[in-house]
Amino acid sequence: MNLIETRDLSLRYSGAPVLSHVDFSISKGEIVTVVGPNGSGKSTLIRALLGVLKPTRGSVMRKPGLRIGYVPQRLAIDASLPITVARFLSLPQRQSAETVSVVMARVGVEGLETRQMTALSGGQFQRVLLARALLAEPDILILDEPTQGLDHPGVESFYRLVEEVRQETGAAILLVSHDLHVVMRASDRVICLNGHICCEGSPEVVSEAPEYRALFGVGTGGALALYRHEHDHDHDHVHDVPDHDPADGALGAEGHVHGDHAGGRR
Ligand SMILES: Nc1ncnc2c1ncn2[C@@H]1O[C@H](COP(=O)(O)OP(=O)(O)O)[C@@H](O)[C@H]1O
Ligand SMILES: [Mg+2]
Repeated sequence: MNLIETRDLSLRYSGAPVLSHVDFSISKGEIVTVVGPNGSGKSTLIRALLGVLKPTRGSVMRKPGLRIGYVPQRLAIDASLPITVARFLSLPQRQSAETVSVVMARVGVEGLETRQMTALSGGQFQRVLLARALLAEPDILILDEPTQGLDHPGVESFYRLVEEVRQETGAAILLVSHDLHVVMRASDRVICLNGHICCEGSPEVVSEAPEYRALFGVGTGGALALYRHEHDHDHDHVHDVPDHDPADGALGAEGHVHGDHAGGRR
């Protein structure tokens, strides 16, 4: 049985449909990545899957009792509202200090319990959001562009952490991302969305699909070319990312992957 499934899902806000005839499913333990240009309806699809938005037509089915851990695309913390990491992790549901410190250690932000949320680096902030999602002991983790604003080593290490968590917990992962080259390696299935599902399949199949290439640019080097296409612009920095982020640093030390990317950017 699928964890979440849509049938002929269409959704509009007020004007034209944002999603049309989307048949989507994700099953136990799967890693599914949704890619698509800005405004292609990715976050809308996620909100429909969560049940926050009602379909205009079609249906969304969630397995009864399904526990979802959700990492939103953006979470603005009001700078005038002080809140520590530990307190943030105890909202909306109270958690013991022990539980909080265990989950913080799991995502690599141990010892930051009393730090203000607004004082975290971009990488640390995303890890705290992941920690909060993990507190739900989810059957499925839904991550909507969770690495937006992170530098490249930060993106790498965040996804590696997600893969570790998946191996340990067996949770399914539904990821929305622009970080194609990183994500595709780990995905069982990639869905290319542009208001409707353009193409879908294994990472290899999708990266060769004409529909996908039409959206993401045709290059000579497959994933490498896609990477260049995606990263030649500045990302919005939601949070300042310091040069040396302890949470991101561990991976930056592993050079082989970055060497490829550096080559791809020329
Ligand atoms: N609350 C909303 N009200 C009206 N239009 C919206 C709303 N949220 C998103 N949209 C529009 O729906 C389209 C898809 O948005 P979104 O799902 O956020 O795309 P993506 O996440 O792929 O960038 C965009 O044209 C966006 O402007
Ligand atoms: Mg979005």
